[in-house]
Amino acid sequence: MLSYQHDYHAGGLADVHKHGCLAVILAQMVAKGKPLTYIESHAGAGLYDLASPMALKTGEAQQGIQRLLLRGFPPPRHPYRDAVETIRERFGPNHYPGSPWIARLLLRAEDPMHLMELHPGTQTILKKNFRGENHTHIHHRDGYEGVLAILPSNPRRCLIVCDPSYEVKTEYEQVRDFVLQIHRKCPEAVIMVWYPLLKDNLHPPLCRALERANLPKFARREVLVTPPGSPRRLVGSGLMVVNLPFGVEKSLDAIERVDIK
Ligand SMILES: C[S@@+](CC[C@H](N)C(=O)[O-])C[C@H]1O[C@@H](n2cnc3c(N)ncnc32)[C@H](O)[C@@H]1O
Repeated sequence: MLSYQHDYHAGGLADVHKHGCLAVILAQMVAKGKPLTYIESHAGAGLYDLASPMALKTGEAQQGIQRLLLRGFPPPRHPYRDAVETIRERFGPNHYPGSPWIARLLLRAEDPMHLMELHPGTQTILKKNFRGENHTHIHHRDGYEGVLAILPSNPRRCLIVCDPSYEVKTEYEQVRDFVLQIHRKCPEAVIMVWYPLLKDNLHPPLCRALERANLPKFARREVLVTPPGSPRRLVGSGLMVVNLPFGVEKSLDAIERVDIK
């Protein structure tokens, strides 16, 4: 089933949480100065138009990044804010970067990226959005299978982002097995997994399984993205990270202090 389209949700508060934390973690890894590979199992289109009918239909971006930028959040020179502003300068004032473009802007020119996207139409748009970018490899394949097939990466030091759409309930178990398989194959990989906090509360078994797996430098971060009483099914945004880089907690806390009203 491939009916999910991120265009409806791009720039919403869950994206602000996920992309803000991604920018903090990746900026810290790049600052170490050693080569690294960026890998995404579920890349999406890479770039979104927040004035599109899809974005305007949900209003999530208006409630999310558009409103927050007007209030000065995140603050100037924050790596997430820098990425959003660079994309607006390059593609136009209504554009917003997906995680692949946030990563591309933070990586060094020679750091390779591997982006997996299974939806044929989305994969075509992703390719178009990265046309001419060096060291950016776009794979039209299942991300769960594709990421494991390219590990260990070259350079071996890597950040792997797993951001599925959780369209089917069994995807939580698939994500659990995926993270454990990556860690077995590449114990030093930094793995970042996004999961939704839904009204029907489907995430706890996934979180419990990874919390009990004794993964190194494990972090679980959650934030509400929907004011109480809202009819939306999504109430919050969750991230689990394996091998969390040293010293980023305060910057992650700052992203999570976002005002949701
Ligand atoms: C939540 S979106 C990704 C958003 C993106 N990470 C971002 O933050 O900008 C999930 C994407 O995964 C794609 N997808 C779904 N199942 C997949 C699979 N098994 N392998 C690769 N991509 C898949 C969907 O088509 C969708 O574009």
